[in-house]
Amino acid sequence: MGGAGLGLAAGCAVATCAIAAVMVGHRVRSRRRWGRAVALVREFEEASATSVGRLRQVVDAMAVEMHAGLASEGGSKLRMSLTFIDNLPDGSEEGTYYALDLGGTNFRVLQIQFSGKGSMILTHRVQRQPISQELMTGTREELFNFIASTLKQFVQREDDGIDQIPDVRKDLGFTFSFPVRQLSVSSGLLIKWTKGFSIKDAVGKDVAQCLNEAMLKTGLNMRVAALVNDTVGTLALGHYYDVDTVAAVIIGTGTNACYLERTDAIIKYQGLLMNSGDMVVNMEWGNFWSSHLPRTPYDISLDDESPNRNEQGFEKMISGMYLGEIVRRVLQRMAEESDIFPDAVQNLSVPFVLRTPLMAAMHEDGSPDLREVGRILEDHLKISGVSLKARRLLVRVCDIVTRRAARLAAAGIVGILKKIGRDGSAGVASGRTKGKPRRTVVAIEGGLYVGYSMFREYLNEAVAEILGEEVAPYVCLRVCEDGSGTGAAVLAAAYSSNR
Ligand code: BGC
Repeated sequence: MGGAGLGLAAGCAVATCAIAAVMVGHRVRSRRRWGRAVALVREFEEASATSVGRLRQVVDAMAVEMHAGLASEGGSKLRMSLTFIDNLPDGSEEGTYYALDLGGTNFRVLQIQFSGKGSMILTHRVQRQPISQELMTGTREELFNFIASTLKQFVQREDDGIDQIPDVRKDLGFTFSFPVRQLSVSSGLLIKWTKGFSIKDAVGKDVAQCLNEAMLKTGLNMRVAALVNDTVGTLALGHYYDVDTVAAVIIGTGTNACYLERTDAIIKYQGLLMNSGDMVVNMEWGNFWSSHLPRTPYDISLDDESPNRNEQGFEKMISGMYLGEIVRRVLQRMAEESDIFPDAVQNLSVPFVLRTPLMAAMHEDGSPDLREVGRILEDHLKISGVSLKARRLLVRVCDIVTRRAARLAAAGIVGILKKIGRDGSAGVASGRTKGKPRRTVVAIEGGLYVGYSMFREYLNEAVAEILGEEVAPYVCLRVCEDGSGTGAAVLAAAYSSNR
């Protein structure tokens, strides 16, 4: 080979080496970036861990806070509000009653006919109406006028004369699923809004009175007979069907629980409550907080940027309003620090762009190539070209968030059982009859539990795990579909002045 030939060969070799070096460098960098994404998920998983030991600490903290909230007003982040409901329906309620259910982005109007015998519902008519963003953040007059006029149209359409004597005022159950200071069974003051509502001039007002006035204005001869939280409606309907029902939990857009408490344990109202017996207590557990909750930097930033900072801490880790948003925050960080979601930083930086139902659909994608995950990323987040292994990592993030949420909710439930002595920890004092624990039913409603099977499985599994195999068979978690609305109607029947 001549000198020129040698030079050319050497040049080629240098170029080949350079290309190889670039390729190797690229692969190393990309492997490093992939490693970074995996490390972020691993860190997140560790920070979100809910071992049974930790869950038991949450159970204890919940029971302690319940005691504190019952002892004095403001004694705990758990509000433990009185409801004045001291008699739960038992299936003997009779007649046609209406209910209004307001608690999220939809409100519902219902008309239910109760048979009066053996917990039988004869007719059940429902209309669903979306609430616009403007109404959620406008004035109380706009909101209540809208609700009353929708109710009026519904009554005109559905009121076919069954069981209704003209000119007799009809009784209505009003489910209002926000924190309220209850004044009586049929009245209560709004303490604060949650779940994205913010109608400033309604705070501090009696919401039943607002509705009564709006109904009067539209010419409706109706009156709020029972103002209830959605948990209370669910407990009422649960008890209507099964008298062993002692507590109810909602896990939907927001989360909360209520239960039947002995009045002599409600120390803060000892003067007010003369009769001894039981009363439903609305815990407002969305606001529960404990240092035992596994909080991550993503939860902290979500809270910092929320309109209700330092409030609803438990709700922000558990409920449907927030789970998708926690996942989005983790994915955004992964997009920033790795290249697994090509060109996605911008799209992933929009708060609440990943709604929980989409996250659930990705989590439950059973196809081997995670086709649904790819479709949702493309259609809803405008992110394309995500590799299969990156899609798998994304599903793992969804799993971590959902599992933590479900297990914390489970610990909350066992916390209530502990407070009322139904968790088996106190032997005979825990309601055991002849050595056997008593059957205990907890009614559950809300889209997350009812419609998201992975969430439901994780929660059921954790309740059994915490309770242990001796007590778990005596605790039944029972879905109480439409409890919030139908339960308010049955309470209107139970507390009706026409009864
Ligand atoms: C509200 C509760 C309600 C729960 C479930 C929370 O945000 O504060 O009153 O029961 O959501 O709807």
